[in-house]
Amino acid sequence: MALMLVATFSYAVKMDADALSEKKTVAEQASTSVPDGKAIYELNCANCHELWERNIGPAMVGVENRGPWKNRKNLFAFVRNPLGTFKQWAYTKAMVKEYNDQLMPAYPQLTDADMKAVFDYLKTATKKKSKRK
Ligand code: HEC
Repeated sequence: MALMLVATFSYAVKMDADALSEKKTVAEQASTSVPDGKAIYELNCANCHELWERNIGPAMVGVENRGPWKNRKNLFAFVRNPLGTFKQWAYTKAMVKEYNDQLMPAYPQLTDADMKAVFDYLKTATKKKSKRK
């Protein structure tokens, strides 16, 4: 009888330890995982933007070489809040005019890590084709 109790007890302890380590893994994943830039781009941006050609919005190839976007702070600020930022640069004022005063949607929910993942993805994706040429 005593033996059985010990066996049951140690089983329960083991279960707890398993549950705990599982929880920790999920929490660790959440805090360390890198956002998927391609997925974010395809979900939020690809309806209007293409990599190589103008669509509803400008092509994304070389975007970080244009206007104020060499500074990612400006780039992230614009994507988060186009309406609130576009008037501060002649570049964006001209761009919005060129697109018939249609401002793109705001993405305030995208964190710095999300943005970094998106624009890193775009950089990599647009490098490939220019290498092939
Ligand atoms: C509904 C269409 C639409 C969506 C969706 C959209 N954009 Fe845009 N985007 C535009 C248009 C149109 C412009 C041109 C400027 C303007 O009128 O706002 C633009 C401009 C830009 C520019 C400046 C381009 C340049 O050549 O300087 C960047 C960067 C940009 N968008 C990034 C994004 C990102 C990142 C997303 C997704 C998180 C996104 N856009 C989603 C329509 C869109």
